[in-house]
Amino acid sequence: MTTLVAMGAQWGDEGKGKLVDWLAPQAQLVVRFHGGNNAGHTLVVDGEKTVLHVVPAGVLNPGTINLIGPGVVVDPGALLGELATLEERGVLKDPSRVRVSGRAHVILEWHLALDKAREEAAKGRAIGTTGRGIGPAYEDKVTRRGIRIADLLDPKRLRDAIDRLAEQKNFELVEFYKWQPVDKDALYRNAVEWGKQLEPYIDHTTRTLDRALRDGKNVLFEGAQGTFLDIDHGTYPYVTSSNCVAGAVCAGAGVGPTKVDRVLGITKAYTTRVGGGPFPTEETGAVGEALRKAGSEFGATTGRPRRCGWLDAVMLREAAIVNGFSSLAVNKLDVLPEIGELKIATAYRVNGKLTEDFPMTLDEIEVAEPVYETLPGWTEDVRGCRNFEDLPRNARAYVERIEALVGVPVEIVSVGPGRDETISRTEPFRPR
Ligand code: GDP
Ligand code: IMO
Ligand code: MG
Repeated sequence: MTTLVAMGAQWGDEGKGKLVDWLAPQAQLVVRFHGGNNAGHTLVVDGEKTVLHVVPAGVLNPGTINLIGPGVVVDPGALLGELATLEERGVLKDPSRVRVSGRAHVILEWHLALDKAREEAAKGRAIGTTGRGIGPAYEDKVTRRGIRIADLLDPKRLRDAIDRLAEQKNFELVEFYKWQPVDKDALYRNAVEWGKQLEPYIDHTTRTLDRALRDGKNVLFEGAQGTFLDIDHGTYPYVTSSNCVAGAVCAGAGVGPTKVDRVLGITKAYTTRVGGGPFPTEETGAVGEALRKAGSEFGATTGRPRRCGWLDAVMLREAAIVNGFSSLAVNKLDVLPEIGELKIATAYRVNGKLTEDFPMTLDEIEVAEPVYETLPGWTEDVRGCRNFEDLPRNARAYVERIEALVGVPVEIVSVGPGRDETISRTEPFRPR
C-alpha cells in the first residue's frame, strides 16, 4: 500500500490533471479533498481532451474509484452536468466509480451571486475569482450554517436550512450589493431534485478510503489549485478559500498523517498565474507572450489568458517546505524550445535586501525583485522523448538545476499534454 499526494507547487494549472490521469492505473482510489469546481483539470488521451472540474481525474481509467471527499465544496448542478457528459461519452458506465461524501458542503445560488457581487464591488482590488461561489460556500461552512450533500436527501431539514439562509443571504445581496434576491422556493425545489439525482453517488467516503487502505491498495490524492493559492500559505488575500497544501489531505479526505507516504510536487517548467495578486517573475512583454502562445496558457475553467513568467525557485523551495515534497514533477518542458535562453529566479531582492526565502507579507512579495540565473535553452523538440537520457543535454541540465535549487529530486518530466507524453525516472508508488 502506498499513498501519494499530487499537489500543485505554484498558482494552479501546473498539469495536475494530466499526471493524475497518468498515475491512476496504479491506484485503486483517486480522491479530491479540497476546493471545488474552481479547478479545471485537463486530460488528453489518444488526442481527445477532457476537462474535469469536480470529478476526480482518475475517471478515465476504468479500474479506478473516484472519491469527492468531505473537504470539497460541491456545486450539485456542476457535478451532475459533468457526470452526465461522462456517461454520455460511455466513460462512466458504472456510477459507483464516482462517489461524493455526504459531508461535503453544497455550493448554492447565493454563493455564486455573492462571489460575483463582491468581486464587482471590489473593483481594482478584486481577487479575480473563478466566480464559482467557492469563497462564500466555505464561509458558510466555517460559520456553521452550510448545507451538506447528505442534507439534500432530507427535504424537511433542507427546507429549514434554506429558509434560515435565505434571510441572511438575500439581505446581503439586496441591501448591501443591490443585487437581485435568490428565489428560495425555486432553490429548494432544485435542491430536492439534486438530492434525488445524486443519491446513487452519495457515500461515506471516509469509510471507503479506510477500507482501501486496510486492503493494502494504492491511493492517489488529487490536489487542486496550488500552494500559493492556499488560504494560509499563499499570497493572501489573493488566494482561494481552502488549504491547498499536502497537509490538507488529512482533514479534507479523513485520513491520518501517518497514512501519507509520498508527496509529489507538480510544477510547470516556468510559472503562470490566473487572477489578481503579486507574481515576482511575471513577464509582461515578449517572453510572457511567447510562453502563453507556446504553452496555450488560457484558463481551463474561465478561459482567461494566464499571466506567464520565469520559473521561480524561491517559490518552489517554499512549496517544498510547506508540503514536504518527496519528489517533483516538472511539466511542459516541451514549451521551452520556443523561448531561447532561460531564466530561473534563485533569490529575491526585497527593499534592497537579498533573500532566498519567500517573504512573509504581501507587501514584501509585491516589491520582491527576482535575482536570476541564466541557463542555455535548446531547440530540439522533446515531445517524443520517453527516457530522461533522450532529452537534449541543455534540457537535462535545466531539470537538474531545478533539483539542485529546490533540493528535491525530479522524478517525472512531462513533455506534452498527452497521457503518454511522460518521462518517469522511478516508480511513483514505491513504498516510503
Ligand atoms: P491542472 O489544473 O493543474 O490540472 O492544469 P490545467 O489542466 O488547468 O492546465 C494545464 C494545461 O497544460 C492543460 O491544457 C494540459 O493539457 C496542458 N499540459 C499538461 N502537461 C503538459 C505538457 O507537458 N506539455 C504541454 N504542452 N501541455 C501540457
Ligand atoms: P486548478 O485546480 C488556477 C484562482 C482564481 C483566483 C483565486 C481565487 O485548475 O489548478 P476562487 O474561485 O477559488 O475563489 O478564486 O484562485 N484559482 C485558480 N487558479 N487554477 C485553479 O485550479 C484555480 N482555482 C482558483 O483564478 O485568482
Ligand atoms: Mg487548472
